[in-house]
Amino acid sequence: MLDKIKETTDFIFAKTGAKPDYGIVLGSGLGGLVNEISIEHALEYTSIPNFPVSTVKGHGGKLIFGKLGGKNVIALQGRFHFYEGYTMKEVTFPIRVMIALGVKSLLLSNASGGMNPDYQIGDIVIIHDHINLLQSNPLIGKNYDELGPRFPDMSEPYDPTLIAKAKAIADKAGYRSHIGVYVAVSGPCFETPAEYRYLRNIGADIVGMSTIPEVIVGRHAGIPCFAISIVTDLGGFENAQKISHEEVLEVATASEVKLTAIIKELLKSID
Ligand code: HPA
Repeated sequence: MLDKIKETTDFIFAKTGAKPDYGIVLGSGLGGLVNEISIEHALEYTSIPNFPVSTVKGHGGKLIFGKLGGKNVIALQGRFHFYEGYTMKEVTFPIRVMIALGVKSLLLSNASGGMNPDYQIGDIVIIHDHINLLQSNPLIGKNYDELGPRFPDMSEPYDPTLIAKAKAIADKAGYRSHIGVYVAVSGPCFETPAEYRYLRNIGADIVGMSTIPEVIVGRHAGIPCFAISIVTDLGGFENAQKISHEEVLEVATASEVKLTAIIKELLKSID
C-alpha cells in the first residue's frame, strides 16, 4: 500500500506540481462546487495510476486542483462507495493520496436521509459525530505506523472549530441548518421504514452511504475533518415516501449553492 500511495502521489506531483492545503470530497449532486474553484489542473481518475474508477451517475470522476476561498485545494469530484463493490481500502485510497500530497484538513460533503423530526428536505446538517454501520473499516488489516496508529482515537471525529465556524456562516446566511449525528450504512437500498426508525433510535439524525471511511482515514492520519450534508429525503415517519436516486440528486443540486457558499466562506476564514 505504501508503494502505491507513493507511486500515485509522485505521478500527480510530476503532472501538476500542486501542493494543496485542503482536501475536498464532493458528494452526490454536489460536484458543482468545482465551478467555484479557479482550476489550475484537472486529472481524469482513469489517467491516475492505482485510482479506482467511479461508476455512479452524478459523480464526475476528476481530481481537481486550484484555488477556492483563497486557499490551495484538491477536490475529488466523484467519490468511491462501498456499495459499488470497492474495498474500504480502495474507497479511501484517494484520501491517503491527498494526505501524502500534504493536505492539512479534509472537507467532505454528502446527501443524506433525515430521521430527526425537526429536519426538513433541503436542510443543511453539519456533522459532529458518526456511527459506522458499514460492515467494515478501512483500517482493518496490517497497520502502517507511517500512516497512523493501530488504534486511533475517535473522541473528536469532526473538528469543533470548523463546526462552530460553519454553523455561524450558515446562520449569518439565513440557511436552515443543524449540527447532527450521521450514520453510514452500506446501501445501495434506501432504508425500510423500520430501518429508519432503528437508525433514529440508536442516536442518528441523518443516514447516508459514505463519508465515514474517509473520516476514519483522515483521523488515522491525525488530520482535522469536517463534513456537511444536505437532507434530500426524510425517513422513519408515518406515510413512508418513495425515494429515488434522481430525487436525491435533484434536491442535492438545488441546495448546492448553500453548501458551496459555506465551504468557500469556511476556507476563507481558516489558515
Ligand atoms: N438513506 C441512505 N442514504 C441516503 C439517503 C437515505 O435516505 N438519502 C441520500 N443518501
